[in-house]
Amino acid sequence: MSEFRVAAISQLHAEFSVPGDKSMSHRAAILGGLANGTCTLRNFLPSEDCLNTLNAMHALGVSYEILDELAGYGPVNLRIHGQAMKLRAPHAPIDCGNSGTGMRLLAGLLAGQPFATELFGDASLCSRPMTRITAPLGQMGAHLETRGTKPGCAPLVIHPAKLTPITYEMPVASAQVKSAVLLAGLFADGLTTVIQPAETRDHTERMLDSFQVVTRQLGNAISIRGGQIPGACDFTVPGDISSAAFWLVAAAALPGSRLLITDVGLNPTRTAILKVLGRMGCHLLEIVRHAVGEPSGTIEIHGAPLKGTTILASEVPNLIDEIPVIAVAGALAEGRTVIRSARELRVKETDRITTVVNNLRAMGAEVEEFEDGMEIQGGHPLHGADIESFGDHRIAMAFAIAGLFASGETLIRNTACVNTSYPGFAHHLDAILHQRSNTSDFTLPLA
Ligand code: S3P
Repeated sequence: MSEFRVAAISQLHAEFSVPGDKSMSHRAAILGGLANGTCTLRNFLPSEDCLNTLNAMHALGVSYEILDELAGYGPVNLRIHGQAMKLRAPHAPIDCGNSGTGMRLLAGLLAGQPFATELFGDASLCSRPMTRITAPLGQMGAHLETRGTKPGCAPLVIHPAKLTPITYEMPVASAQVKSAVLLAGLFADGLTTVIQPAETRDHTERMLDSFQVVTRQLGNAISIRGGQIPGACDFTVPGDISSAAFWLVAAAALPGSRLLITDVGLNPTRTAILKVLGRMGCHLLEIVRHAVGEPSGTIEIHGAPLKGTTILASEVPNLIDEIPVIAVAGALAEGRTVIRSARELRVKETDRITTVVNNLRAMGAEVEEFEDGMEIQGGHPLHGADIESFGDHRIAMAFAIAGLFASGETLIRNTACVNTSYPGFAHHLDAILHQRSNTSDFTLPLA
């Protein structure tokens, strides 16, 4: 079983880019497959999660050619031959692996097809709630069965159905639920509207627009008219700010450090992490180089002594994936960091409230656990520990970052899971550990 062994570093001086955005890669594989023609996707994320979605589209009749690949992982640049909304029945159940995004978006896509499908996943995915999508899709006339041993959980069996449009007020702020309903709405006859309780990442809306599908947004209500056929489109996926977040925290908490992350997504529904780190005291510069479609550019960050902060309830949906590493930043800061209104963390790849709290405590941090979050009293020196990832990629990576600040060695066990979102993380970690005594800038190509 793979593991990371991490020791403290004193400064971080680097410039590099991170692999493509996971949320956008899922959506690009799906919309590319539905398009009316051939689409070239660049910088697709060849992680296990996104490859499962690409394979799912392939099983549904979408062919693709690999233009370039990341050795040992999968396609980075590819040409997808869209099927103009006409999918075919798969020969076997579809494996969504560890990916909630893959399963929920595919369920939306498949809810209104004239054929049946089954979606399954690993033990973690089969313990995550699916009623949040089966409820609205059911209201549209879809017939979805949850066949998991845990009620309301995958495997999902999706029977053939003809959908009618609905207006749906989401009880949870979830981009996955919003996207599942919008994708189903593309196959329903009329106007489907989804109302979110708070702003969530808007990649689906932006990407639909890139594929010439018209959506309308009025406040937090997004509408789509069914029957539109996505036009072919070439799409370049920027780097994933959620992957960049690990290094941003490492640099932020090391005074004297300077880190540049280039070609990274700067969609305003994803950049709350930058506001939080700014509030904690580090110096940040966001340079938008491409402003059309999905904004992207460079983040420059200079480390400083950090101070604790309170995460606002309204910020939580837009930094939900970054909270494990923000909690690590909280442990490294002076004063109290408060993370509440974040109950959703309990239904991620692991219960990320419990896994973060227990791992931080194992490293010497003072943390109080709440049903909806945690409070961290920062400033207690961290010490190396034997840390379990519980198979959760973001837990493994967040605690690799904690290890960069701990005395002695930190061993993180069960780290193969990082390939679900960040192929090449171990390579980047290794390069950063080995520039320990070398503070000159370096560039770090992936692979
Ligand atoms: C995602 C949305 C978020 C996030 C996940 C990716 C997406 O989940 O945690 O990693 O691509 O739509 P929720 O929408 O369930 O909050």
